[in-house]
Amino acid sequence: MEKLITAARRAAVDDPRVLDAMRGVPRAAFVPHDQVRLAYDDVPVPIPHNQVTTQPSLSARMVQALRLVRDERVLEVGTGYGYQTALLARMVSFVTSIERWPDLAGRARQNLAAQGIENVHVVEGDGTEGVPAAAPYDAILVSAAFPQVPEALVNQLRVGGRLVQPIGPGGAERVTLFERSFEGLVPLQVVSHARFVRLYGRHGYH
Ligand SMILES: C[S@@+](CC[C@H](N)C(=O)[O-])C[C@H]1O[C@@H](n2cnc3c(N)ncnc32)[C@H](O)[C@@H]1O
Repeated sequence: MEKLITAARRAAVDDPRVLDAMRGVPRAAFVPHDQVRLAYDDVPVPIPHNQVTTQPSLSARMVQALRLVRDERVLEVGTGYGYQTALLARMVSFVTSIERWPDLAGRARQNLAAQGIENVHVVEGDGTEGVPAAAPYDAILVSAAFPQVPEALVNQLRVGGRLVQPIGPGGAERVTLFERSFEGLVPLQVVSHARFVRLYGRHGYH
């Protein structure tokens, strides 16, 4: 666990709430059984459907950029095995997370439940349409790459809320922090450069 904290600190994560969340989430419980030996290395690990989990220090940077305080309701797009979902759940009041592959969503639900994490709803579906039933959100974290932020996500973010998305074609992204104004999204900062898997869906890649 401390290896991941050290990696996050090296990646400029200094928010004690994010670091505490990392201490509270055993990554080994959020990777496939045959990848457990890599769980405490700061690397992405393969999961089914040619996907990979996000590198933990990068998840920590994206979460930090949202400047979460405690009472927020957050939407995550791209649950994977649920590690980042678990970090968010330790920091805010409720997380809605959407995953397009039903087996991944099911695995994430099991992983989260096994850790006693209950303030999460994992939905199966197309995250490029958001999850309108639980909107508006105080923050949105998109874990897959597309050149634009899907309009539905902009509409489901409250004014003043923050959104992070890897902006790019999949493979070479600017992970960008936005804030929602009355007019739309305002880019605030490039959090990191990174390589992400693609965001698929009606308003993503087909
Ligand atoms: C980088 S991976 C998983 C990241 C995960 N948050 C973690 O902590 O490792 C991105 C995930 O986004 C999912 N995904 C891609 N397009 C999606 C969409 N339109 N809606 C929901 N999930 C999507 C993929 O199936 C994959 O599980």
